[in-house]
Amino acid sequence: MVTAAVFADFKNEVWVVDNDEQKIKKILSGKIPFYEPGLKDLIIKNFKSGRLKFTTDYTQVIPNSEIIFICVGTPNKDGKIDLSYLYAATKAIAQNLKKPTIIAIKSTVPPGINQKLEKWMKKYTQTDFDLASVPEFLREGKAIEDTLHPCRVVIGGNKESTTKKLLKLHKSIPGERLVCDAATAQMIKYGSNCFLATKISFANSMAFLCDYFGADVELVTKGMGLDKRIGNQFLRAGLGYGGSCLPKDVKALIHLAQEKNYDLKILKAVQDTNEGQIKYFVKKTVKLCSGSVKNKVLVVLGLAFKPETSDMREARSIDVIEELKKKGARIRVCDPVAVPEAKKIIAGVKFFEDPYLALKGAEALLLVTEWKEYQKLDFKKIKKLMKRPVVIDGRNIYNKEELRKLGFLYEGIGR
Ligand code: UDX
Repeated sequence: MVTAAVFADFKNEVWVVDNDEQKIKKILSGKIPFYEPGLKDLIIKNFKSGRLKFTTDYTQVIPNSEIIFICVGTPNKDGKIDLSYLYAATKAIAQNLKKPTIIAIKSTVPPGINQKLEKWMKKYTQTDFDLASVPEFLREGKAIEDTLHPCRVVIGGNKESTTKKLLKLHKSIPGERLVCDAATAQMIKYGSNCFLATKISFANSMAFLCDYFGADVELVTKGMGLDKRIGNQFLRAGLGYGGSCLPKDVKALIHLAQEKNYDLKILKAVQDTNEGQIKYFVKKTVKLCSGSVKNKVLVVLGLAFKPETSDMREARSIDVIEELKKKGARIRVCDPVAVPEAKKIIAGVKFFEDPYLALKGAEALLLVTEWKEYQKLDFKKIKKLMKRPVVIDGRNIYNKEELRKLGFLYEGIGR
């Protein structure tokens, strides 16, 4: 959606094809199926201008396209990468090709898959096509900003005419260009996401040690990040990473390595550390609730896997809530936008819109997703509302001194 909206905004004619009729109907009626800041306006603007169109009909759009982007999901299924959407899309494209066309894969796919896909597509078409790889590096919640101002545009292709055309298409977008073969481009994508996950798990390991040695991880990671070789991003300690990409891509690369008999120990440790953060957070909660959460009212603030999105995929809130439910806690939850999504996944909790209402009579506040709404809470008011003034800060966003001065029992992660 973001790729389509941005390229349409650059005055290209863009068709979006999806085989999910309900989704396309919803979009045509002006509803965007997920929350992403700025996307709705950009889509409506370009839809009204006639440059952005939506359909479920491949026959209508494939024959006339110059460049086709494949943006289908490549989810994880029992540890393996599910490529069924990719194969279905490439088949449908091949069946409808009428002239030589560039097909650029944006989806995260196993490095080197283009040769296999080429063979597969040739079963369904005699027409010439060229498969390239243009991985996306956008973050949810900042998807438009990341597409318009990326650090880099990676273009992987084997034909000069293809890479030239793709470079031309991206000419209005700033950032470094890296032109390489498709397998390299695909590996850059895995390498980037897995390295980001590694940074987070490293910060979380440091946080654990900080708790034990009485150091403050916020200052430790700040101090580390001042070294330009390390950099300060993705070193925020807390509940660890969730979402539709980092967990999936870490799993996928471990699996791809295994297929080549390589034990990717470093990423296994990254994954274990990430899982450990949930247990660590729950352990802290139990400790601050005087050793048991049974029948106690706990309030979870933030459900989405991160702020500014309604996406609940691999959200840390799910596991935190499940663990606490097992221990007999009575759980109330709040999120500014993800409640409708969360209701499909999380049961046995009470949903609230207003955090203050949720906190009335509660024994602990558990900050899970750092929405800005929850960063600026009135803790004087909260102190009066809660049964016991306990805050467990899973994202290290609160001023611990202030909260402790107000009489809260506070713990962050590694602070
Ligand atoms: C990620 C990549 O950042 C992006 O480049 C890629 O294209 C898709 O995957 P996204 O899944 O939207 O983007 O989320 P991201 O901002 O990377 O955050 C992932 C998770 O890591 C979130 O749960 C976030 O809370 C957590 N995180 C992030 C930390 O715990 N600490 C940090 O320092 C940064």
